[in-house]
Amino acid sequence: DLSVSWLGLSMASPLFNASGVMCRHADELDRLAASCAGAVITKSCTLEPRAGNPEPRYAALPFGSINSMGLPNEGFRYYLDYARRYDYGRGKPLFVSVSGMSADETLTILGELARLDLPCLPEVNLSCPNVPGKPQTGYDFAASAALLDAIVRIYPKTFGVKLPPYFDPVHFDMMADVLRAYPTLGFVTCINSIGNALVVDVERELALIRPKDGLGGLGGSYVLPTALANVREFARRLPDRHVVGCGGVTSGAEAFMHILCGATVVQIGTCLYEEGPGAFERIAAELSALMRSKGYRTLDAFRGRLGTP
Ligand code: DHB
Repeated sequence: DLSVSWLGLSMASPLFNASGVMCRHADELDRLAASCAGAVITKSCTLEPRAGNPEPRYAALPFGSINSMGLPNEGFRYYLDYARRYDYGRGKPLFVSVSGMSADETLTILGELARLDLPCLPEVNLSCPNVPGKPQTGYDFAASAALLDAIVRIYPKTFGVKLPPYFDPVHFDMMADVLRAYPTLGFVTCINSIGNALVVDVERELALIRPKDGLGGLGGSYVLPTALANVREFARRLPDRHVVGCGGVTSGAEAFMHILCGATVVQIGTCLYEEGPGAFERIAAELSALMRSKGYRTLDAFRGRLGTP
């Protein structure tokens, strides 16, 4: 039984897409909703539509991916229209990722979402690494707190944030201290890509992607240990909130690891991009088989139970 209930939502599977993958256009979102995914999240949106960065801006790698998409999206009205038309009765919760080009843009979008009062939940992206000149908000603790102060004034319902990876226990403490102050913050998604990596093609003596002189966010198996550390450390520090695990899930084993580290549900990015939505059925079957072999009947039976030797 892979079912999970959280924040008043019911999901038949804990697996869904990571924002950015297969979720820019309505037809892709519809395919996700028709797949074995347990939920659907939209591409991070800005106030106005964006074409994104020049190509090549995504490359598959031996153990993951690098991308610098630059927030190509149809503009927030498109995703709010989609959220208005969405069939919530199907039992696949809808999340809307919001990533304004400024705090004001994010607040305008959330204000409109509040006004519509739909059953979808926003995931506010504090961690897009790919817009030249725009730092990742999540690495500026004061700016994160200021944005969250403004968000809870304009958005009265439950919401979540997508965090960048942190690499030092002091930073886990600092961000958790910020987040704890907001009772309507229902979930934190850990992690976004490891930002500003550089992958080199030795034959051509070129960076693999064009934007930002080759710098892009790393995803896939490269980031799994960093993702698990962030999931475990935020789950420990925020025991009354949900952590959404994201990073390096390619099989049932990694989904199990995320949940063992404390994740309530698990997002899939690079693997979904490479394999398509059939990944949800395969990984769910692998997770079920692994649980059966260990004698676990539910996700609750092992969630957050990671030990140390
Ligand atoms: C993009 C990448 C991200 O990691 C993110 O969180 C939002 C947007 C992008 O490049 O489009």
